[in-house]
Amino acid sequence: MAYFLAIIGGGPAGYTAAEQASKAGKDVVLFEQNALGGTCLNVGCIPTKSLLYGAKQYYNATHAQRYGVTAENVSYDFSAMQRRKTIVVRKLVAGIRQRLQNEHCTIVSGAATVVSRTDTSVTIQCSGQTYEAENLLICTGSSSFIPPIPGIQDNPAVWDSTVALDSKELPASVIIIGGGVIGMEFATLYNALGIPVTIIEALPRILATLDECISDYLTPVYTKRGVDIRTSTKVTAVEDNTVILDSGEQLQADKILVCVGRRANIQGLEALTDLEYNRGAIVVDDFMRTNLKNIYAAGDVTGKIMLAHVASRQAEVAVGRMLKQIPVQRIAYNAIPSVVYTYPEVASVGISEGALEGCEAHTLPMTYSGRFVAENEGETGLCKLVVNTKSQAIMGVHLVGNPSSEFIAAASFAVRMGYTLPEFRQVVFPHPTVAEILRETVNEIQ
Ligand code: NAI
Repeated sequence: MAYFLAIIGGGPAGYTAAEQASKAGKDVVLFEQNALGGTCLNVGCIPTKSLLYGAKQYYNATHAQRYGVTAENVSYDFSAMQRRKTIVVRKLVAGIRQRLQNEHCTIVSGAATVVSRTDTSVTIQCSGQTYEAENLLICTGSSSFIPPIPGIQDNPAVWDSTVALDSKELPASVIIIGGGVIGMEFATLYNALGIPVTIIEALPRILATLDECISDYLTPVYTKRGVDIRTSTKVTAVEDNTVILDSGEQLQADKILVCVGRRANIQGLEALTDLEYNRGAIVVDDFMRTNLKNIYAAGDVTGKIMLAHVASRQAEVAVGRMLKQIPVQRIAYNAIPSVVYTYPEVASVGISEGALEGCEAHTLPMTYSGRFVAENEGETGLCKLVVNTKSQAIMGVHLVGNPSSEFIAAASFAVRMGYTLPEFRQVVFPHPTVAEILRETVNEIQ
């Protein structure tokens, strides 16, 4: 049987595409060598959020006095947190399998290899069987990058995020190499559970891809909590559980967690000899088409923005294109929200201050929201808007404070639709909510 669509990889890109094409009445086969759900569900977003939620409950219980609550003898059981995480993941993975089965999508377990292609068909082998499809969508994701630092490879003291998430035991202390998104989320987890944490970041600030206001806010907050943050610092070598810095200083910890980015997974695609890559990632156009006819790619393997919600949107665009859906859709890369689950949370969408000429930034503390003050003792938070001075369009929004993750979508909507300040002022926000800080900041701008 020839399928309309073969998908390699069952993460957010792969399962979104499978469901969408199946719903449109097309025959779909999806190959997955591990569990459905990919990095996000199994070893990324969901397990980290499950563990972080437990750690934050513990942190809140031990800091409850500021809300007039005394909790004595508070303790945590990390193995119970891990068990809960596993149950959460299993539940969600089973849900995805069920949804795909409801749509009669064929799911094949195993590592798929592309064998050959023409302009009208692709041949794939998996678990001893051969499959033909008109279109191929490559959604093979990414893996942790381990940099070529002497002593780091095959060192049992060195973890990547997957090993850290799976570990039944907490490290006694940890050095995190890389103060990016993954590094800061693990720093939050371990610090909340009382584990000594050191962060080594090569760039001058943590979370360097986000607006500077975010690192300016979080660096003193984490330092005050005891996290040792070393910026503009490189690791030159690792010996057992000792890290040697470019200054010559040596630091020791029980575990060394490497969080210096991820690289596209491109195994099994070797037969596509003419497939175009850029820095190890598959090159795609605005419709997720590769340079080879009827071959598309979506998600981390494209190296664009490694976020689950970008992957699923890319998959929708790819399938829309295969189905020749009208109107033709593209991805609005200028309005992709991102959230980092630090404590407090940070969330961003659009451009940073200084990224574009003709824009100016306006910042208010989140304490302009009554709800924020009621629920975030000791925090000031912030909301920064980047606005086009001439058109008054909202170009970027940057938030620090709980629960930014829950209302950055409102800001994304404004940036995506090109809302101007006068247009945004017509939107009514429910009171009392922390989201009102968006309206408050807009109102402050003359
Ligand atoms: P990242 O690119 O966010 O951060 C890596 C950091 O490591 C950078 O700040 C870089 O300067 C630093 N670095 C690189 N080499 C170094 C060295 N030798 N010594 C010291 N520092 C070094 O990558 P990360 O944190 O590994 O995340 C990978 C991807 O996963 C990202 O695209 C991220 O957006 C995504 N992700 C998203 C999450 C979310 O949306 N909440 C959660 C976790 C991951």
